[in-house]
Amino acid sequence: MLITALSFTGHPERGHLPHRLPFRFGAGPTRFYSRPMARVFSGIQPTGEVHLGNYLGAIRGWTVNQHHSDAIHCIVDLHALTIPKDPAELRAKTGELMAVLVAAGLDPEVCTLFCQSQVHEHTELGWMMECTAAFGELRRMVQFKDKAERADFVSAGLFTYPALQAADVLLYDTDEVPVGDDQRQHIELARDLAIRFNNRYGDTFVVPEHVIPPVAARVMDLQDPTRKMSKSLDSPQGTVLVLDEPKVVEKKFKRAVTDSENEVRYDPEAKPGVANLLSILAAATDGDPATLAEKYTQYGPLKADCAAAVIELLEPVQERYAELIADPSTTAAHLRLGAEKAQAVAAVTMAKVRDRLGLPAV
Ligand code: TYM
Repeated sequence: MLITALSFTGHPERGHLPHRLPFRFGAGPTRFYSRPMARVFSGIQPTGEVHLGNYLGAIRGWTVNQHHSDAIHCIVDLHALTIPKDPAELRAKTGELMAVLVAAGLDPEVCTLFCQSQVHEHTELGWMMECTAAFGELRRMVQFKDKAERADFVSAGLFTYPALQAADVLLYDTDEVPVGDDQRQHIELARDLAIRFNNRYGDTFVVPEHVIPPVAARVMDLQDPTRKMSKSLDSPQGTVLVLDEPKVVEKKFKRAVTDSENEVRYDPEAKPGVANLLSILAAATDGDPATLAEKYTQYGPLKADCAAAVIELLEPVQERYAELIADPSTTAAHLRLGAEKAQAVAAVTMAKVRDRLGLPAV
């Protein structure tokens, strides 16, 4: 229904979003590209609390890119089901995450911001991707091994998770997938599945590229800088949350684990704690970690500057979040708008996929 109700400006087969601009303009009056704006897709799970790794590694870049690309961002609640969840908690987390994303600067009118389970094409194409992926390929996924080791109950969904993730990306003819470094293997699998499907059934999917930020692609835990900051690890002191109060942020940086030397230099192998602080400071101030290191001779001032820069970065997000979370009807309206825009594109892809596979039209 949605597809016929909306008029598209782009190529009809690609299911371009109605707001998609036809050309990307470069710097300077004479530079422009004759190809459409890049389609960007990325997702985030509504589990745990949004932390600084999510923000610096992914969300902040999304907010900037939405103005230069045709951006689609998804709260992947179906992925969250791979580990059993309390329904009330999942509902609350989805609303909170939506509020954080909008507070961070994602504009539901500019980009497409939606919830995965409201667009049923994700599960449909997810199955087709499960039938395209090899068992051995999924078994090699590092995140599956990590999570399965820690889970009390290892669901089949946890194993096939990357096939659903591939479907998320491929449904939207995605050119670029901006993610943190931990998602690299999953995006490589999505590429492999797109190529395999195209070879078997004829050209169907755009083969996506992953885009990893130059700094803070892997923000590490402040208490154990050899492991990444994560929603699922039990390290409250090592994880800076986007909604942490300034005093809490200060305390976490003050207690950050460094090393027994007293030399500030950027050396992620030998000095992971210090390198992590420098990366965070660089990401928060648009600097370069190695150059920033030259300004410091002691760890104390580095930690204090890190905390100050992060507090300044998060302050406007927290203020806007407080307004949004008090207004659930706006969040619900944003979700409805996002689902409509996303489905307009996803339905076109699914019709094409069904046809390629020899399934009857619906
Ligand atoms: P999730 O929810 O774990 O993380 C969301 C985004 O945050 C990035 N990230 C980090 N970046 C830097 N340092 C860290 N410590 C850190 N921790 C997380 C992640 O790389 C991610 O970009 N499987 C995905 C969600 C997903 C998805 C997709 C992503 C589902 N379908 C399709 C892209 C495209 C996940 O669990 O992200």
